Amino acid sequence: MRAIDEICVDPIILNQWHPIVALNEIVVGAVGQTMLLGQRLSYQGNGEDQATAWVAADPSTTSIPTLLKFGYLWGCLGEPPATLFDIAEYDEPDRRNLNSASIGVHCSAPRAVENFLDMGHFPFVHTGYLGEEPHSEVLEYQVSIDADTGDLWATECIFWQPMAAASAIGGQMVDYLYRVPHPYCTLLYKSCPADKSRMDVVALFNQPLTSTQIRGHMLMSYLDEDNDLVALRHFAQTIFAQDKPILENQYPKELPLDPRAETPIRADKIAIAYRRWLSELGVTYGVIPV
Ligand SMILES: [Fe+2]
Repeated sequence: MRAIDEICVDPIILNQWHPIVALNEIVVGAVGQTMLLGQRLSYQGNGEDQATAWVAADPSTTSIPTLLKFGYLWGCLGEPPATLFDIAEYDEPDRRNLNSASIGVHCSAPRAVENFLDMGHFPFVHTGYLGEEPHSEVLEYQVSIDADTGDLWATECIFWQPMAAASAIGGQMVDYLYRVPHPYCTLLYKSCPADKSRMDVVALFNQPLTSTQIRGHMLMSYLDEDNDLVALRHFAQTIFAQDKPILENQYPKELPLDPRAETPIRADKIAIAYRRWLSELGVTYGVIPV
């Protein structure tokens, strides 16, 4: 059996941008420490528009490639792509963008993505917020891959939610879109209680500390003028805290890509597609390949 938590040698994952730290967590002037793909990293920045990162164990190392986007410092331990995916809504001037949580979870990044994509757990894990019995049925939805970007999408998702957002008043049927633009990052677009014609965006950027440990960084891009940042963060952290023990109890920690490994049900259509999508990308870190 191969050792887990080893330094990543998977070129598909090494050659991606990964989040290192939320800019609002950077202490100006101090050197921060974190991990990425089994290696210790140091970083330093001004918390706004400048930051660098380097491999901590190697004093001779030069800075690794970094970029600042969506309120996070991103780094790459291999050959980075020219760009990171875009979120068009993030740049709309009336949006409120915030890092609502950066939470350590003892699970692999793909397990966290798969859980984020799963509507079936809402009534049981997020009771009173994102679901409630007897409204537990996951209705038919569509799964597709964007031919231009390669992003995986689930569309036409509809679910009953008693309290879909901090701004929600009463329960409602909520429209969802899910998008996976990166092996370890995912986002959803959902009906916005404050503006029926637009959608709120929630993104989960998983920082792979090792193959079985992450920091999940949650970005919210909301249309909400009523709730203060504390209320918005509190809502997101409440939801995340409900997911954490579920994620940490999953076994094995790494996500099996063999479609026969775990019994699929209809609600898992996107999960099955995500596993196949990872397989076709050739990802081997954080998963159990077929
Ligand atoms: Fe959840």
